[in-house]
Amino acid sequence: MASCTRKDNVSVNVNLTTTSLLSRFLVLFIVSSIASASHFTGGIALDDAKTRKNGLFPEILRDEAVARLKELGKVTDAEGYLERTFLSPASARAGDLIRSWMEEAGLRTWVDQIGNIHGRVEGMNASAEALLIGSHLDTVIDAGIYDGALGIICAVSALKVLKSTGKLGKLSRPVEVIAFSDEEGVRFQSTFLGSAAISGILPITALQISDRSGVTVQNVLKENSFEATKESLLQIKYDPQSVWGYIEVHIEQGPVLESLGLPLGVVKGIAGQTRLKVTVRGSQGHAGTVPMSMRQDPMAASAELIVLLESLCKHPENFISYDGHCNGFTAESLVCTVGEISTWPSASNVIPGEVNFTVDLRAIDDMARESVLFELANQIYQTCDRRSVSCVIERKHDAEAVICDPGLSLQLKSAAYSAMKIMVSEIQDEAPVLMSGAGHDAMAMSHLTKVGMLFVRCRGGISHSPAEHVLDDDVWAAGLALLAFLEMHL
Ligand SMILES: *[C@@H]1O[C@H](CO)[C@@H](O)[C@H](O)[C@H]1NC(C)=O
Ligand SMILES: *[C@@H]1O[C@H](CO)[C@@H](O)[C@H](O)[C@H]1NC(C)=O
Ligand SMILES: [Zn+2]
Repeated sequence: MASCTRKDNVSVNVNLTTTSLLSRFLVLFIVSSIASASHFTGGIALDDAKTRKNGLFPEILRDEAVARLKELGKVTDAEGYLERTFLSPASARAGDLIRSWMEEAGLRTWVDQIGNIHGRVEGMNASAEALLIGSHLDTVIDAGIYDGALGIICAVSALKVLKSTGKLGKLSRPVEVIAFSDEEGVRFQSTFLGSAAISGILPITALQISDRSGVTVQNVLKENSFEATKESLLQIKYDPQSVWGYIEVHIEQGPVLESLGLPLGVVKGIAGQTRLKVTVRGSQGHAGTVPMSMRQDPMAASAELIVLLESLCKHPENFISYDGHCNGFTAESLVCTVGEISTWPSASNVIPGEVNFTVDLRAIDDMARESVLFELANQIYQTCDRRSVSCVIERKHDAEAVICDPGLSLQLKSAAYSAMKIMVSEIQDEAPVLMSGAGHDAMAMSHLTKVGMLFVRCRGGISHSPAEHVLDDDVWAAGLALLAFLEMHL
C-alpha cells in the first residue's frame, strides 16, 4: 500500500532543477538549430520560428514517424479495421516492420521468447546500466493507430536522429527500445504478457492460460517457434542490476492535455484500481399491484447507491474525515464508474427481484482509494438497511498505484518543456503533470526498475477507437522530447 511519503516524493519542488536542466537544453537547441542564437531573444517572428523548427528534424521526427504510424496501422488481422493480438500473423508482420526500422536507426535487434522486439545500441560504455524505452505493438479490436505504436515509433525516430548527427555511439549508457508483444490482453485476457516476462513478474502458470477456443499461451508460442518452457520464460527476465530505468511515451487517452492546449505532459503515476460487484436483492412483484410504501425495490435502491457513489467520488471531503495521518486527502485523481448493470427479470411490468452492478474505482493514492471504499461500503449498507433490501459487495480486482520516479519525471518534464517551447509559443513555465487512469507496460516494468512516462495529446481524449487521432506536430513534439531526454544521456 502506498504511503503518504511515496506520494509526496512526486510533488517535489521542481523549479530550480528544471531551470538548470532547461538552460542546458536551450544551449543544445541553439547548437543543433541552423537558426542563430538571436532567435531565443524576445518576440519571435513567424518566419524565424519556422526556420528554427526546420532545424529540428521534422522529416524524421514528424513526416516519417507519421508515415510509419499509418503504415503500421494497416498491419491488421481483420478486414476493414485494426486488430493485432498477441503473436497473431499481423503482429508478426508488425514486428518485422519495427525490426527493420530499428536496424535502419542503427540498433542491433532480436526477438525474445515471448515475442517482444528489441533494438539496442551499446553507446560508450557497454557495461553501464541500460535505459529502456518501450510501448506495445498489440492493439485492441477496432483500434486506433497511435495507442502503443506511437511510443515505439517516436523512440526509434529519436535514435535515428542521433544516428544522423553522429551521436548514437556517444551515449553514456546502452539504450534499448522494446516493442512489447502484449499489453491490451485481448486474446488471453491477461495484460502485460510481454513486459511482465521482462520484469520477471509473469507466473509460469501464464503459459497455461487459454483463449476462447481453448488454445493456450504455450500453444501459441510453440506455433510461432518459441520454446515456451519454464526455462525459456525465466530467461526473458532482465537482471535489475543491468537496467537504469524505463520510460514510455503514450497517448494520453484522456482530454486533459487538449483542454490545456498543450501537446505533452508528464505522468506522475498510474492509478491503483479496485473493481467491485454489488448485488442488491429485494422482493419481486407486480408493477401494478404493490403499493409504493410496501415495496423493497432493488432497482430504486441501486439508483440511489449509484448517485451516492458519484457524490462520494466528486466530493470525498464531504464524507470522509481523515485521521490526520496524511497532509490532507488526495482525491484529485479519484474516479468512480458504474459501467455495467443487470436486473432480474428485467421486464417493464415487474418490480425487479435482483440488481447487480459493477463499480470501478481508481485513485493515484492507495490510501485514499481504501478510505473511499470503506466509506462507500458503509453508505451502501446503511442505504440498503433503510430500504430493506439485502446488499452484498464483492471485491473482484485490486491493483496498487504505481508512482513514477521523481528524478526520471523531472528529466522528462524538462525534455517535454524544451520540445513544447519550440512547438507552442504561449507555453508558460512548466510541462503539466498528469495522472494515468489507464494501465500501461510501465506498470509491469516498475517491478524491474524506476519508470517515467510522457503523455501525448490526442483529439477529444478518444482512444481504443479508429477515431483516435494525434496531430502530426504532436508526434514531432513527442519525438523532440525523447531526443532531448536522450541528449541528457550523451
Ligand atoms: C561503465 O559502467 C560501469 C557500470 O555502471 C561502471 O562501473 C564503469 O565505471 C563505467 N566505465 C566508464 C569508463 O565510465
Ligand atoms: C447477479 O450475480 C449473481 C452472482 O454473483 C448471479 O447469480 C445473478 O444471476 C446475477 N443477477 C443478475 C440479475 O444478473
Ligand atoms: Zn496502450
